[in-house]
Amino acid sequence: MLSSPPLLVLLPLFYLVLSQCLAQDSSNSNPFSSVLIYSATAGFRHDSIPTAIQALKAKGPSVSIQFTATEGENHFTDDNLALYDAVVFLSTTGEVLSPSGKTAFQNYLNLGGNFVGIHSASNCLVNDTFYGRQVGAYFDYHPPLQNATVNVLDRSHPSTSMLPERWQVRDEMYNFKSDPRAIGATVILSADESTYTDDGQRKFDQGTPHPTAWFQERGAGVSAGGAPGRSFYTSLGHLNETWQDDLFMDHVLGGITWTLQSNTTRTSNPGATVGGHPSNSSTDQVSSVTSSPSSSPDA
Ligand SMILES: *[C@@H]1O[C@H](CO)[C@@H](O)[C@H](O)[C@H]1NC(C)=O
Ligand SMILES: *[C@@H]1O[C@H](CO)[C@@H](O)[C@H](O)[C@H]1NC(C)=O
Ligand SMILES: *[C@@H]1O[C@H](CO)[C@@H](O)[C@H](O)[C@H]1NC(C)=O
Ligand SMILES: *[C@@H]1O[C@H](CO)[C@@H](O)[C@H](O)[C@H]1NC(C)=O
Ligand SMILES: *[C@@H]1O[C@H](CO)[C@@H](O)[C@H](O)[C@H]1NC(C)=O
Repeated sequence: MLSSPPLLVLLPLFYLVLSQCLAQDSSNSNPFSSVLIYSATAGFRHDSIPTAIQALKAKGPSVSIQFTATEGENHFTDDNLALYDAVVFLSTTGEVLSPSGKTAFQNYLNLGGNFVGIHSASNCLVNDTFYGRQVGAYFDYHPPLQNATVNVLDRSHPSTSMLPERWQVRDEMYNFKSDPRAIGATVILSADESTYTDDGQRKFDQGTPHPTAWFQERGAGVSAGGAPGRSFYTSLGHLNETWQDDLFMDHVLGGITWTLQSNTTRTSNPGATVGGHPSNSSTDQVSSVTSSPSSSPDA
């Protein structure tokens, strides 16, 4: 009788400690998401690509992501893509995939794979409707590189929550061939057209306010019957300096980590059929199929 009160006090404490140990165990069993960076170019080649890859890889551990970078199209097979929770198209240009690579990528998206497009990722695979829908809109043209202000339209997103409401950048203000909102995207950054000069001729309606970065909760590139993962796109990222800017890195990493919270890959859903797994996401194994960069006639 006399010994039970102390026990009753200690029991909840015991369960608290136990549950914390269990929670830690389950998160430790698969701490890293696997993300493939694809930076092949068949058109213009940005000299910031190596800077971007280095910056992303350096930040990887801080956001529990294991990045694998490649320009080898042989990564685009069903089996290999299934190892990744997200695929990032980094400043890709032109026809960077053959028909079989496109089919594997479409299959990956149909299985719930997540997608991130950065800068000229909107200017590749221009005749592949599924790819254009997965990005959200195709690039049309940009005025010369200059300073500009970008407005944050939605601060609730992890890619914008740390940005000033009016963000001063030095970058290319892209124009697009369609309005990403038309396929379900939410635009979160918008170029303030009064802060830079654009003498180009607009032939397409990209909607207002001017889309600069956006996300799709359900990537629109998925085939009917597929399981859409998430998609994030930012048109910023032209210069080396941009990739050395902590605020820009937080923007990009916020977008990438947001895609990984979809419930469609192994990072957030153990029953998913694509996504990283500790026992088969070793860098050595994957980098063995990496090939040299593709040629770049316009570089
Ligand atoms: C950008 O960085 C790369 C190395 O990462 C370098 O080769 C290139 O010259 C740099 N570009 C400029 C304009 O400094
Ligand atoms: C990864 O490895 C695990 C355990 O060996 C296996 O069950 C799973 O099917 C593998 N996943 C892929 C995509 O190869
Ligand atoms: C895309 O389609 C247009 C119109 O058919 C064609 O002129 C162009 O060459 C195609 N581009 C590629 C990269 O296939
Ligand atoms: C453009 O912005 C950069 C910083 O991004 C700044 O160093 C530079 O002074 C600005 N140039 C002009 C003309 O405002
Ligand atoms: C993922 O989340 C969506 C929206 O909350 C839900 O409709 C869907 O059933 C979920 N899928 C899985 C596999 O949990």
